[in-house]
Amino acid sequence: MKATKIEITVYEAGKSTELTPADSTLLHEAINATKNAYAPYSKFNVGAAVLLDNGEIIYGSNQENAAYPSGLCAERVALFYASSRYPNVAIKAIAINSTVNGKENHDPVYPCGDCRQVLLECENRFGRPIKVIMGSASKIHVVHSIKDLLPLSFVLKRE
Ligand code: THU
Repeated sequence: MKATKIEITVYEAGKSTELTPADSTLLHEAINATKNAYAPYSKFNVGAAVLLDNGEIIYGSNQENAAYPSGLCAERVALFYASSRYPNVAIKAIAINSTVNGKENHDPVYPCGDCRQVLLECENRFGRPIKVIMGSASKIHVVHSIKDLLPLSFVLKRE
């Protein structure tokens, strides 16, 4: 059998000042959004900030529920709101941040599988790569397309 290696590129920054000014701003907006999380069950607060092609920034935070599956991740709260508010505007980037038990997380927060699938669809829908900025108190990881986080992804073909 033939083996094919798939390479992804992940950029790492020690602190937000090493990011571009636009990415640094977006990450700070995600850090602010983290404060609006409703996560009494996991105590894992997540904030997301989505930069649209029209320059607007849309925020999201995770929203939990006593019936656990009824909650939603910060990324999808922001992405679905962005799409419902501006259905025809492409997404340029998303920044994500988290705290654990009210303290800074020292590991970047990586989007869950469901959020990756939604990001992929946003990317494919507009044919524009979405930069993903994954923050933490110690290091920041950046990928230039969601395809780096979801290679060999599912795409619905109708014919
Ligand atoms: N969560 C997010 O909001 N985004 C992620 O990328 C991973 C997980 C939320 C879901 C749940 O409210 C809490 O974090 C713990 O899983």
